[in-house]
Amino acid sequence: MPTIQEQIDQQDLSLFKTIESQSSEDDRRSFMALNSAFRQWKGGKFTFLEIGSYKGGSLQSYVADPGCTKIISMDPRPKFTQDAREKTSDYSHVTTQDMLDLLAKVPGADVKKVIPIEKGTDQMKPSELPFKPDFCFIDGEHTDTTVVRDARFCLNAMGPDCAMAFHDGDIIYLGLDMFLAELAASGRKFRAYNLPSSVFVIELGECRLSQAEPMRSWRDQNYLGYLYCLKRNDVFRTTAREYWRIAEHPAFKLPHKLGLVKVAKKIMGGGKKKK
Ligand SMILES: C[S@@+](CC[C@H](N)C(=O)[O-])C[C@H]1O[C@@H](n2cnc3c(N)ncnc32)[C@H](O)[C@@H]1O
Repeated sequence: MPTIQEQIDQQDLSLFKTIESQSSEDDRRSFMALNSAFRQWKGGKFTFLEIGSYKGGSLQSYVADPGCTKIISMDPRPKFTQDAREKTSDYSHVTTQDMLDLLAKVPGADVKKVIPIEKGTDQMKPSELPFKPDFCFIDGEHTDTTVVRDARFCLNAMGPDCAMAFHDGDIIYLGLDMFLAELAASGRKFRAYNLPSSVFVIELGECRLSQAEPMRSWRDQNYLGYLYCLKRNDVFRTTAREYWRIAEHPAFKLPHKLGLVKVAKKIMGGGKKKK
């Protein structure tokens, strides 16, 4: 019978069967590759901060891994969670206590090491955290501005040799781009890459997660994530194609000439800069 750490190192998906997670199977393989790499990089023991936990789905391997000694779960559990695609979700029916109860059911879980904080990164300072995390995972509000704020918070919360990962890079890519530009301008040493399906990793300082297995081999498969993200965003290309097809239809020539299309766009908020 393999130990929990062996299961994590083998990216055994059965570790994620207790709680429904907002992630694909490949995302879960990435969570475990990261979990394994964090433990190996820190010589066996590490601490972890997650922003945006919902039911605790993405915490399942961490809560069971004895190598992960402490976990902070930051989640203000607002009524509505915004998203860069303008899709609003309501996760608030799941409470912090519900999450802890679910996590307690994960085989091998030590739920006492989870410190939940019902606040966002706009409501506290990194210095107010109960401990300095070694690694952070960001999966809270999926807007570009909030992701940048969360990433800055994590950067200030951790030591110089650390890593952070983001879920759903295909939604918050402009935030990632902004944050990476800030990092580059600051002169900090970093490496960034995508893992399947949509997990974006930034290693800082001397941190080298991808030197260890299974991370090294898993990272070689990152074409899976590249194509997954493009395909998931293809709905926008399809919509744009349809929009251009309609806009170029001869029936729209006169309204265009009369400026009516411009007026319609203005009424509908078209061309307005979105956050
Ligand atoms: C996509 S779900 C997280 C899914 C979870 N990580 C998993 O894989 O199962 C997003 C979560 O972010 C939380 N959230 C919303 N706004 C937030 C904020 N400003 N800071 C942190 N978490 C936030 C929501 O309450 C929700 O639980």
